[in-house]
Order: sequence, then C-alpha cells, then structure tokens
Amino acid sequence: MAKTIIIGSDHGGFNLKKHLVAVLESWGMNVLDMGPDCAESCDYPEFAASVAKKAANGEGLGILICGTGLGMSITANRFPGVRATVCTNEFMARMARAHNDANVLCLGERVIGIGVAEGIVKAYLETEFEGDRHKRRIDLIETVSK
Ligand code: RB5
Repeated sequence: MAKTIIIGSDHGGFNLKKHLVAVLESWGMNVLDMGPDCAESCDYPEFAASVAKKAANGEGLGILICGTGLGMSITANRFPGVRATVCTNEFMARMARAHNDANVLCLGERVIGIGVAEGIVKAYLETEFEGDRHKRRIDLIETVSK
C-alpha cells in the first residue's frame, strides 16, 4: 500500500477531505493535507495544482476532492507526469491503478457517499500497476500528445 497521500479539496469537497484524512491516518498512512483549512468558498485549481505538483514529483499518491471531481481532474491532468482519474466506484479505482497507473484520484463529494468513497480509496491504494502492455500505452499518451 502507498504510504504517503497528498490530499486537497475545494469547499465542495471539504467535508469528505476531512473525513478521509482521519480514515487514512487510522490506516497508518502519512497524510499531507494541502488545504483548504475551512469550508469557505475557494477555487479548486489552486488546490489541484498544489497536489498535482507533488504527485508528479513522486512524493506520494494524490487525492483531490471537489463537488464532482471534474474540475480537479481537468486541472491536475495539465501537469506533466500526472494521470488523474475521477472514480465513482471500486472497479474504476482498481482499473485506474492497474491499467492507467493513475497517481491522482479525484472524487466528487456531491456524487458519492462516505462509505463508497472509503471503498474507492482503499481499492485505489491496495492496487498495483500491472505494467507490461499498459506501460506501453501510458508511454504512448506522452508521445501522441506532443
Ligand atoms: C463548486 O461549486 C464546484 O463547481 C466544484 O466543487 C467542482 O465540482 C468543480 O468541478
């Protein structure tokens, strides 16, 4: 299981972030909370950038939460080396890691409940990248987008 989690949200994802920080710490993870510190209205790109830069740098796996997960994933994927995926169920979370080597998980607090979110995070953290043909495809993402 990955050991360091870099987490961030906007106001739309603040409550789920707070909950997941406590859950992750109870699982023995080292959690780096990039904010915000309160549920006041704020702009998701700022927090997506803070988490994306660290995830791209290999400092840990990222988790970004907004209302839908969409704005976070759009922003995070602008950073070279980031593969951010919105996941709404455990199957997507497992595939995001096993096939896409995703390094930033995006969640929507207004889309999924707390129990589903916990299951998604657990599946995401427990699943390893399978490499092989999936590595070739991930490398191709860089090539075709140049
Ligand atoms: C904020 O209202 C909302 O737009 C944001 O949390 C997110 O869902 C954007 O993608």
